[in-house]
Amino acid sequence: NCSLNTTTNHLRHVESMAVLPSGAGKIPRLNAVILGEALASEEDDLVFPSDDFARQALLPSAQKYLEMYKRSVEDPAGFWSDIASQFLWKSKWGDTVCSENFDIRNGNVYVQWFKGGITNICYNCLDRNVDSGNGDKIAFHWEGNERGFHDSLTYTQLLSQVCQVANYLRDIGVKKGDAVVIYLPMLMELPIAMLACARIGAVHSVVFAGFSADSLAQRIMDCKPKVVLTCNAVKRGSKVIHLKDIVDAALSESFEDACLTYENRSAMMRETTKWQDGRDIWWQDVVPTYSTICEVEWVDAEDPLFLLYTSGSTGKPKGVLHTTGGYMVYTATTFKYAFDYKPSDIYWCTADCGWITGHSYVTYGPLLNGATVVIYEGAPNYPDPGRCWDIVDKFKVTIFYTAPTLVRSLMRDGDAYVTRYSRKSLRVLGSVGEPINPSAWRWFFNVVGDSRCPISDTWWQTETGGFMIAPLPGAWPQKPGSATFPFFGVQPVIVDEKGVEIEGECSGYLCVKSSWPGTFRTLYGDHERYETTYFKPFPGYYFSGDGCSRDKDGYYWLTGRVDDVINVSGHRIGTAEVESALVSHPQCAEAAVVGVEHEVKGQGIYAFVTLVDGIPYSEELRRNLITTVRNQIGPFAAPDRIHWAPGLPKTRSGKIMRRILRKIASRQLDELGDTSTLADPGVVDQLIALADC
Ligand code: WT7
Repeated sequence: NCSLNTTTNHLRHVESMAVLPSGAGKIPRLNAVILGEALASEEDDLVFPSDDFARQALLPSAQKYLEMYKRSVEDPAGFWSDIASQFLWKSKWGDTVCSENFDIRNGNVYVQWFKGGITNICYNCLDRNVDSGNGDKIAFHWEGNERGFHDSLTYTQLLSQVCQVANYLRDIGVKKGDAVVIYLPMLMELPIAMLACARIGAVHSVVFAGFSADSLAQRIMDCKPKVVLTCNAVKRGSKVIHLKDIVDAALSESFEDACLTYENRSAMMRETTKWQDGRDIWWQDVVPTYSTICEVEWVDAEDPLFLLYTSGSTGKPKGVLHTTGGYMVYTATTFKYAFDYKPSDIYWCTADCGWITGHSYVTYGPLLNGATVVIYEGAPNYPDPGRCWDIVDKFKVTIFYTAPTLVRSLMRDGDAYVTRYSRKSLRVLGSVGEPINPSAWRWFFNVVGDSRCPISDTWWQTETGGFMIAPLPGAWPQKPGSATFPFFGVQPVIVDEKGVEIEGECSGYLCVKSSWPGTFRTLYGDHERYETTYFKPFPGYYFSGDGCSRDKDGYYWLTGRVDDVINVSGHRIGTAEVESALVSHPQCAEAAVVGVEHEVKGQGIYAFVTLVDGIPYSEELRRNLITTVRNQIGPFAAPDRIHWAPGLPKTRSGKIMRRILRKIASRQLDELGDTSTLADPGVVDQLIALADC
């Protein structure tokens, strides 16, 4: 059971936060000033919410946060069931709100929230909002890749469309618990498909439409869906991507009963789409023939809602499984507080529904709050780097949530693309995917947000379902580059390499003590890997895979992955995945991949390759190796650099010393450290000599 210490360590940290006024609940009255350059360190750089903002905020003071946070960890059952009661449950959960074992030393790890409670997340997203009089409110504004192409759906219209797809799925035999793979770009049909699955209790598995046929096939073979939902093509920027061809290639490797294909006329007409009779069905031919009313399948809070594959430190992607009730309560609550959501807001998150951000914060979190959501199909810098602000002005976006990589790339393109648009509707900004460097933070704050809008830098993961450490704008001053403090119910812990919790100002490995409602329940089909990856490294805790430090004021600073995962433009890629793609090339004998700092992407992929004996390294081979990775994983995983390595630095037992490779990749040659334990120290000089070839 979730019995918690009454004074958790975090609570002590929070209570002693130097910057937070104890008791009074007042924030120093400074109007959004950046105290900037004069400061000794980033840690002392405080950015205060304006009076105006704080006054109207859902959480107007640190004091209020403290009260709520305290209750959330001292009485999680009471805290979360009060919130959960605001949703529609066919019947309430039993007496035990949460049951868990988060400590591997006590046996198998498991987590359950609201077990026995019967609900449906689609009902709570749509019917509940329609029934409460918001049927005519816009649920989605959709903006196409090309300027001038747009569409919208009210909550009532969205409900009808979701019901039609749900009825179709039911009709072809999809039942509660069956998997459905969705491979769609950012059309409204993507969240519609997700919601349709949820409505009938089917488990959606969205595969980002930038993944290759091989990756898609691998995911299809793992979760064995009844049907695949896709479209024929999509335009991103000036490129047309033929998604149906990718699906065809994937399906020939796996199996398939049915492939429902949306005809995306702005990119491609059906006449030119390759077709397999008997398997392929046009969405527009069948879906509109179904009733716009569809009874929901009431499910248990612990019934699975979706699977989402993510990268780990081995080659095989992990199917992260989320269940219904806890995820619903958690995404709704985090969305509301971290963005200070008000019913009049117009919210735009630039993430794709192919990633967790698009699940929790394009689809479920916002719709559960009855929000109006902007969905953009295209590339953020098309036809020019001003497009985002054009969209912000067009829909009067008030909350804009994006990734540091986009911020950095737009920053490089210059302020003029931003300042030519008004942006005065903006109220709150958000950042996710990787640590945001303070200079990008400042540009985002000063230029995009005109020094008015707080930035919610949200740290979380596919596994956590929702925000874990994030500012609550209005409640406390921010520090550029820090994700600030934990969300309600989250107890972060920083441990040393022995797994011992360290207190106060420190840095180490970021873990979490006890479950929160949105946490994942298992890795699909591999509970053992779930326990080994997340719960064995530091017994007693969930291990995030991230490094982190906590400053003297208790603020958390994420420092990046400490495992073999690289974060490229906010996309997680396992070094092992890229290595296995490289060695699948017949002329590549061995590969070692490391991450290197990249000005725009955050991290870039740097690959050392050893060739098969007798094969010469050439420009053509370099290109072929990159193409191999693009084809096997997807274009976003293409290595930025290939470094020919006749030999790799290995220990006598044959282990590749990545520490040395990282230094060579980042050209920190005077920091190579001890190379004497290498089987052949000479390879290091050889690699350095080949660095620029
Ligand atoms: C990894 C999770 C969660 C949605 C997007 C990525 C990094 C994410 C932040 C942030 C510092 C961050 C971490 C984490 N990360 N957000 N605000 N500050 N690092 O989800 O693909 O599961 O990746 O992204 O390294 O472990 P994901």
